[in-house]
Amino acid sequence: MTTTLNTIILAAGKGTRMQSAKPKVLQTLADKPLLAHVLDTCQSLNVDKTIVVYGFCGDQVKQAMAAYELTWVEQKEQLGTGHAVKVALSELPTEGKSLILYGDVPLVSDKTLMRLKEANAQGMSMLTLTVDNPFGLGRIKRDDNGNITAIVEQKDASQAEQAICEINSGIYCVDNALLHKYLPNLSNDNAQKEYYLTDIVKMAVADGIVITAIEPDYEFEIEGVNNRQQLASLERSLQAKLVEDLQVQGVQFADPNRVDIRGEVTVGQDVFIDINVVLKGWVSLGSNVTIEAGCIIKDSTIGDNVHVKPYCVFDEAQVGHETTIGPFAHLRPKAVLANNTRIGNFVEIKKSHIGEGSKINHLSYVGDAQIGSDVNFGAGAITCNYDGINKHATVIGDNAFIGTNVSLVAPVNIGHTATIGAGSVITKDVEDKALAIGRGRQVQKDNYQRPVKNK
Ligand code: UD1
Ligand code: CA
Repeated sequence: MTTTLNTIILAAGKGTRMQSAKPKVLQTLADKPLLAHVLDTCQSLNVDKTIVVYGFCGDQVKQAMAAYELTWVEQKEQLGTGHAVKVALSELPTEGKSLILYGDVPLVSDKTLMRLKEANAQGMSMLTLTVDNPFGLGRIKRDDNGNITAIVEQKDASQAEQAICEINSGIYCVDNALLHKYLPNLSNDNAQKEYYLTDIVKMAVADGIVITAIEPDYEFEIEGVNNRQQLASLERSLQAKLVEDLQVQGVQFADPNRVDIRGEVTVGQDVFIDINVVLKGWVSLGSNVTIEAGCIIKDSTIGDNVHVKPYCVFDEAQVGHETTIGPFAHLRPKAVLANNTRIGNFVEIKKSHIGEGSKINHLSYVGDAQIGSDVNFGAGAITCNYDGINKHATVIGDNAFIGTNVSLVAPVNIGHTATIGAGSVITKDVEDKALAIGRGRQVQKDNYQRPVKNK
């Protein structure tokens, strides 16, 4: 029989020190709310039930987390961590185990939590760490045999207790039966007049339970966010970890400190990422991909042997193999580039398919277009896809040649192998293999006398 695993996430704190209109757990780390980091970890642990204890701005928090299946419990007054877990008891099964987590401690890993669960042999395990500066945190007291006997909070600690450097992370795995047994008996007879969750340690010890403590793999896993400085510091820790994970997979970074990853990145072999690149959302990079400096790539898929030159911005783009893009190219949602395409500087592409071998090398806008293969789209040529009210499609056949500075006024079809003369404004369909020119004829006035200034 597998025991059920629940999580109780404390998220009732206001986060006054953030100086924000937003509740603390909705502040973002790598573009994702703090609470969502914890919930994603719970999802990867396959927990049976996640109870979130909320307080301030409950509606805002619930709305932001609507994608998750959660049980919400309101803690109207913040009377302490023990009180917060106590209000969750009404939703907590009497059997199984619970992980107690925090909405503002976002980076605890599924791996560490799995170890914590396995460490709960007798009813209770906890994450602790020996640190250089334990000030402000709960201290772990142990007896002569090294067994945990209690946790004392900073404000209740004696001089000797304050010298202890092993601290309480606040993260535990506890049998639900014990939570149901102990929490109703907590008192707030302490320096802060709070119901301390930490007091269940003494109660368990009195019941003869040996509490196991394990350490997290990384210190940042148990670090909480109370102010902007801590948020920024955790962001750096997370970025360092994400970059390291990609390095382990073979990615070369010009400078691991000058890149940001705000989402999920999958990579092939021999990917090179230059400085100041930001990868957001779901990004997939093939093998032999080079991303040069300053590129921002969001929710995009990039094939093999692709070279992205500096300062490109991609958003929901799909890029085929053997493609070269940029510098300064903008691929907007539903830009799809087939293999072997060339997209040059100051080119913007939106909701368009660019066929294999086609080139759009300079200063173009392509929107709502289907461009065949081996098309040459000249410098400054654009699709006029918007009439002020509606968007219209442009279809260009294989092998067409669109001259420089052509305006293709959509809806319009250009046949395969058609040629459009430079500077044309094309408002009517063009047949396959035809040449279309739509521009004023050049006139010449010989020996032209320029105006002279009046005296
Ligand atoms: C707690 C621990 C301390 C540990 C530290 C680690 C207790 C008594 N102490 O102290 O041993 O070293 O965490 O950071 O548990 N919360 C609620 N409702 C409440 C009170 C708190 O939801 O009524 C939430 C807060 O939003 C916060 C978390 O619980 O996310 C921790 O609360 P906090 O008051 O900051 O506990 P600490 O004093 O830091
Ligand atoms: Ca705290």
